[in-house]
Amino acid sequence: MLERHQIEAPDGRICEIAIGRGIANAAALVLPNAGRVGVVAQPTVEQLATKLAVEIGDSGTAADVLVLPDGDEAKNLLTVESVYEWLNRQGFTRHDMLVAVGGGALTDVAGFVAATYLRGIEVSYLPTTLLGAVDASIGGKTGVNVGGKNLAGAFRHPARVVVDLDIIDALPEGLLREGAAETVKAGFIADEEIIAEYERAGLGAEIDVVVPAAIRVKVETVQSDFTEQGRRAFLNYGHTLGHAVEIAAGISHGDAVAIGMVAAGAVSAAAVGFAHHERQQEIIGRIGLPVNVPGLERAEVECLMGRDKKRDREGLRMVLLEDFGRPLLRHVDEDLLEVGFAAIGVE
Ligand code: GLY
Repeated sequence: MLERHQIEAPDGRICEIAIGRGIANAAALVLPNAGRVGVVAQPTVEQLATKLAVEIGDSGTAADVLVLPDGDEAKNLLTVESVYEWLNRQGFTRHDMLVAVGGGALTDVAGFVAATYLRGIEVSYLPTTLLGAVDASIGGKTGVNVGGKNLAGAFRHPARVVVDLDIIDALPEGLLREGAAETVKAGFIADEEIIAEYERAGLGAEIDVVVPAAIRVKVETVQSDFTEQGRRAFLNYGHTLGHAVEIAAGISHGDAVAIGMVAAGAVSAAAVGFAHHERQQEIIGRIGLPVNVPGLERAEVECLMGRDKKRDREGLRMVLLEDFGRPLLRHVDEDLLEVGFAAIGVE
């Protein structure tokens, strides 16, 4: 199986996405006219990055590897600066490119560097986590945390994204579970097949079914609304409370989105008659994701939510569901917020 997509940004930049097995190679990732390649990678996939750099070198393009610190704590301007300095030392020009090998935090940083270094160089992504494959690597959102999640960033597509399902299939259970939160989210907002597959098999859901389906949801959404003027915000289902509990509780993005979706499901039931709140919670639980987060200070969570990018002058907006596949963006008052907090054990 080899599935291909293209997304065109409003400025005409094209992102090519390939999904298949055994497709992570130099030819798939490196643009034919690249002068030299800087491979940036997280420590857990250094071996894969090094193998790729050797292969790129063998094909006639100079390539070096820079290993960056792992995880969301390293998704900051210090890491960005360390990549700029590395590129400076190598004398990078606009004809050279980056290849980012890693999870969502790594590709977000690499994308931000590519968007800004020399006012823009090319980058390709090889996502090595499920979360990265179905969400972070697709759609051109790049950025770093500056006192809040992803508050500094730029919209800019990578040139290519190569999703190798062999890499995803080999992931440990914890990373599959974390990525399942964003994968099943794509189902809740737009694809019954994904919901049915997770409902059937929990974490044993077929990667060949759910990953291409979730990427299709993301591609269609981003293609219609690259800069999030409307429909793209639906991809943030579960993220308004999710981002706040992620920081307040110090938990993973996937766990936080799972909890955020439980809260958003409860608010949806109260505000717009969503009938599947309990079913949704059962599916999330069946995957092995958390459905509540007791012990958090409500004031802290509310303060963190105040920094949410979907807040406008009239207050907080949340993505809700009228039904599976029918999301909407709505202002949420204190009473509705209370319903969401109660559903996830925040008092
Ligand atoms: N992760 C949500 C988006 O890309 O819009």
